[in-house]
Amino acid sequence: MMALNLVLMGLPGAGKGTQAEKIIEEFAIPHISTGDIFREAMANETAMGLEAKKFIDKGELVPDDVTVGIVKDRLSQPDTEAGFMLDGFPRTLVQAEALETMLKELNKPLTAVINFDVDPSLLAARLLARGRADDNEETIKNRLEVNIKMNAPLVDFYQAKGLLHTIDGARDIDVVFADTQTILKAL
Ligand code: C5P
Ligand code: MG
Repeated sequence: MMALNLVLMGLPGAGKGTQAEKIIEEFAIPHISTGDIFREAMANETAMGLEAKKFIDKGELVPDDVTVGIVKDRLSQPDTEAGFMLDGFPRTLVQAEALETMLKELNKPLTAVINFDVDPSLLAARLLARGRADDNEETIKNRLEVNIKMNAPLVDFYQAKGLLHTIDGARDIDVVFADTQTILKAL
């Protein structure tokens, strides 16, 4: 079977993590969430975690070289041979270009990019309800601003490559997942 090499795209709170958890029940591929990797590193107080925390606490993006390095290491692991699902990466065009380069080197071309589209006006409430440490009123505003600015060029980038599948992510979790399944099964 062809490897399933996926990127899940969408603004913070769009439902990438939630859909990822459902996808892996059906497609046994590693869920690679850069946010989760950062949170684990912060909890363990590693050097990378302490560095990332400075940015995450302000709702800023961790510098591209740090994030790209983490993803490159992870995608070099043998458990990604049959596929992988990136969640929260790429979040910048620089990251997207770096991903292209590393996937070429690793001979793991992307199969599809699933874009969970949710109107930004709905997201602040979703993030507040989630209640993660970085989901407080001050950082949410900045995170959304930063990510909205970065998101449009990424959508264009993957659209131009013919990889983009956009799903209306404002609906119920199970309805969004039904659309996700339809797309994945047709790949
Ligand atoms: O993806 P998630 O919302 O879990 O990420 C949490 C935080 O990690 C982001 O708000 C951002 O500060 C940082 N991050 C990043 N670059 C990425 C993914 C996450 O800087 N590509
Ligand atoms: Mg997430």
